[in-house]
Amino acid sequence: MTSSSYGYFDDANKEYVVTTPFTPLPWINYLGNNGFFGLISNTSGGYSFYRDAKFRRITRYRYNNVPMDSGGRYFYINDGGTVWNPGGRPVRTELDHYECRHGMGYSKFIGRKNAVEVEQTTFIPLEDTCEIHRVKVTNQGDSAKTLKLFSSLEWCLWNAEDDGANFQRNFSTGEVEVVDSTIYHKTEYRERRNHYSFFSVNAPLAGFDTDRQHFVGVYNDYSCPKAVMDSACTNSEAHGWSPVAAHQLDVELAPGESKTFVFVMGYVEVDADNKWQAPGIINKAPAADMQAKYDTEAKATAALKTLTDYWDNLLSRFTVKSGDDRLNRALNIWNQYQNMVTFNMSRSASYFESGIGRGMGFRDSNQDTIGFAHMVPSAVRERIVDLAATQQSDGSAYHQYQPLTKKGNADVGGNFNDDPMWLVLAVANYVKESGDTDFLHFVVPFEDTPEVPSTIYHHLKASFYHVVNNLGPHQLPLIGRADWNDCLNLNCFSTEPNESYQTTQRGDSKVAESLMIAGQFVLYGNEFVEIAKLLGMDVDASEAQPHIDAMVASVKQHGWDGEWFLRAYDSQSKPIGSQQNDEGKIFIESQGFCTMAGIGFDDGKAEQALDSVEKHLACEYGVMLQQPAYSDYNPLYGEITSYPPGYKENAGIFCHNNPWIVVAEAMLGRADKALSYYTRITPSFIEHLTERHKTEPYVYSQMISGQDAYIQGEAKNSWLTGTAAWNYYAATQYILGIRPEYNGLRIEPCLDKSLGDVQIVRHFRDAVYHITINQGDGTGKGIASMTIDGKPVAGDLVEYADYAGEHQIEVVLN
Ligand code: BGC
Ligand code: NOJ
Repeated sequence: MTSSSYGYFDDANKEYVVTTPFTPLPWINYLGNNGFFGLISNTSGGYSFYRDAKFRRITRYRYNNVPMDSGGRYFYINDGGTVWNPGGRPVRTELDHYECRHGMGYSKFIGRKNAVEVEQTTFIPLEDTCEIHRVKVTNQGDSAKTLKLFSSLEWCLWNAEDDGANFQRNFSTGEVEVVDSTIYHKTEYRERRNHYSFFSVNAPLAGFDTDRQHFVGVYNDYSCPKAVMDSACTNSEAHGWSPVAAHQLDVELAPGESKTFVFVMGYVEVDADNKWQAPGIINKAPAADMQAKYDTEAKATAALKTLTDYWDNLLSRFTVKSGDDRLNRALNIWNQYQNMVTFNMSRSASYFESGIGRGMGFRDSNQDTIGFAHMVPSAVRERIVDLAATQQSDGSAYHQYQPLTKKGNADVGGNFNDDPMWLVLAVANYVKESGDTDFLHFVVPFEDTPEVPSTIYHHLKASFYHVVNNLGPHQLPLIGRADWNDCLNLNCFSTEPNESYQTTQRGDSKVAESLMIAGQFVLYGNEFVEIAKLLGMDVDASEAQPHIDAMVASVKQHGWDGEWFLRAYDSQSKPIGSQQNDEGKIFIESQGFCTMAGIGFDDGKAEQALDSVEKHLACEYGVMLQQPAYSDYNPLYGEITSYPPGYKENAGIFCHNNPWIVVAEAMLGRADKALSYYTRITPSFIEHLTERHKTEPYVYSQMISGQDAYIQGEAKNSWLTGTAAWNYYAATQYILGIRPEYNGLRIEPCLDKSLGDVQIVRHFRDAVYHITINQGDGTGKGIASMTIDGKPVAGDLVEYADYAGEHQIEVVLN
């Protein structure tokens, strides 16, 4: 256990324990794995949705509010006039004890006041579309207590965007039913919806409210809801306005006595022909079935155990024991957990992503799979199919799709020219992990040619040729609207404040070129060639190769600035990321991608580029995106110059790209540098910076402000970032060097001495490898010797065909 003034890691329980409700920002957790999801903060704020945070929002949350974290599932105690919440908010009554334990798929709140303890455990069971709150109330005193326990939440009217905007309609549509201890939210059910939600409890009610004006009061708020302060709900029935769900339970406790209640907030879909059980009365059968599965403490506890067992099992597929607990904690628990969350959410819903703007990003979701394929390969396979289905036959792709409809988002469109090549990374990584080479022959038609039985392999080929067919004046890839850097908008030229940088495109866009895509094309183009060969498509492989060779030549000829790789050519063919520029002289992305692609390993350029990164971009808090920061807005460059210096893409530490440098350093064999960059942004290594960072100390954030910023080292946009998958990939596949390949597991560590000897348990397909890495006396790069089950083996590849089952592998490093 280590700690900061806000909490500590409890590794044995795989929890982060928050010890104050007043963290620098709300510190959240994610609930749910299969369609039904919840965001929950350390004070039980947050909201729930089914599949799509925009189109199926179940409970309401107020972004941008004061105080920040407004809206949630709140439990209130009224103990003889003293009113408090086990999560410490929204009532700010000082508690005698508070803790919030964010665990794997659940959050537990323990609040104590005047000898009453409430333990609220909130989770989403693996198999159902509901959120369970197991609430245990204990009288720790020596006299009897009569308490009032209230639950409360506020329904969202389904479409979250409309819910926050279309009040002239919304204030007249809300409808509910109340039967026994269940409150049903049936807004819009009378028209086109065949789904509703409910909130129930397994105990008789002393009262309820379903109308916000009655429960909260017009001039009160959730820190002093009228019904709670008055000690009595009003049994209100909502017609329009704002439907809520609040239960009142009167709880009598003898000294030392505990009572546990199980609250279930669920979502059900109903067969369209069977919507009503009587005129105007919704069919409650599916809700009743769900409630029956969790209507006792024992059933709820068993469901929680199933969930924690599931996570224990999932995390056991790859475990590490090194000499540094901080590395173990990151790789064994939190990084993998965040990988699951980014895989599920893409960039849709967090406390920084409103859930109404972005669905599943094409590049984002492809990259997210590389941190998750070893955990649930079947889910990755399905995700890749969904992504590929939004690709066009010319290789271009919608930039995003909506999870509910799985349709490409036409408002945002495409032309982000790095998008197609990320599919190659995702597919190659998945097939290497799973051994599922048949997947390459799996039919997924392109979006624009639904009748043609194109295979996944055809998609990869289309991605490859999309780059080949879109080259600019220097035979480098055209950037389109932007490449990985969404904010390098070289064909936007916007001077109109209401235009989106992301979707505005002017001019013929046939001039501006990207060195990031050039490196990406070489790296993943090589993967494509390897796949073609694997399938015996030798003609395809030999036709593709010259395009890769030509790209390497173009990079060397037109993409080298003398000490590092250029970043781009602008719409007038002027260099970006060059000594010739006054600002933005050097960028991280092209250094990462060109070196990861192996460009410049033969002539010292790779090493020089990485030395330049260290010299010009690295700082205490991570590696900055570019330097010097842009000081003024420049319509030729777009959004990147819109940010004040030091923030976001304008010279912030954009964590997502830091692991590219880690990988490249490991490829060069510089173990100390690889580890140093990795640890600068990895949460468990920088817990001491929590006060400065402000975001959750257990997950990566997208951005940390850089050295030009007004406040340096401050993190933002926690949780949903490609950093999670990429840093996991860099640490496991390049620092530890445990790298899946088509025919086995390559073991090629680049391990700094400070990590000591390392033991790894790696499940690979159906095999289990117990790997011991012993530090040698040399560089830590690559292996001097390897034995499998005690017998010496040449090379560093564990061939899967020869070593299925369980094996002991011992390596000694160079
Ligand atoms: C942000 C990017 C983000 C993009 C997506 C930009 O404002 O800076 O990080 O990817 O918006 O909409
Ligand atoms: C965040 C976006 O989600 C991602 O797609 C993009 O690559 C980065 N920002 C960099 O701009």
